[in-house]
Amino acid sequence: MLNIIVACGRSRVIGKAGRLPWDIKEDWDYFLGITKSGTLIMGKHCFSEMGPHTNDRKVIALSRDPKIEFPNTRKASSLPEALTMAQRDGGDVWICGGRIVYEEAIPLADRLYLTLIDAEFDGDVFFPAWEHVFTREISRRESENSGYRLTYLTLGKEK
Ligand SMILES: NC(=O)c1ccc[n+]([C@@H]2O[C@H](COP(=O)([O-])OP(=O)(O)OC[C@H]3O[C@@H](n4cnc5c(N)ncnc54)[C@H](OP(=O)(O)O)[C@@H]3O)[C@@H](O)[C@H]2O)c1
Repeated sequence: MLNIIVACGRSRVIGKAGRLPWDIKEDWDYFLGITKSGTLIMGKHCFSEMGPHTNDRKVIALSRDPKIEFPNTRKASSLPEALTMAQRDGGDVWICGGRIVYEEAIPLADRLYLTLIDAEFDGDVFFPAWEHVFTREISRRESENSGYRLTYLTLGKEK
């Protein structure tokens, strides 16, 4: 299954200055738990943000720069190339951002794992519009953590 996973504040904000705009342990733990198995695909900045968390999982990092190497991590120069590599691993594939990877993956993915954070944040990276693509709600869980109201959604496409 090809999955996208993302957490969004209001206005679909997802990042600020190369970091998450928030510090919400429950959502970070959710991300680490659900992506523990399978192959993670992410852009160069997301890879550096994840730091040591990439060590114990299968990751493919994206860059078009032929000179870049990612320590102990496979590299691909496009999403199609990364998807071909990930399919050889078997198991779930998790698209982990950032913006360009999300844009390319939305038409292809089976499921969207979306955490909605009901708060305004300043940011410089935004998730693309998804509402007209992932129209089928598979699961929903509400929660409250670090003073924020969170909604964990699993969404699919119409069959
Ligand atoms: N809230 C969330 O769930 C969430 C999830 C993910 C990210 N974020 C946030 O978003 C920000 C990072 O995202 P970003 O969009 O700035 O950076 P990014 O996607 O992690 O990295 C961008 C770089 O990765 C490479 N890349 C990306 N897509 C590619 C593709 N399809 N093919 C080939 N190379 C590709 C390019 O590197 P080269 O220039 O070397 O070619 C590009 O310059 C951070 O603030 C992070 O915290 C938030």
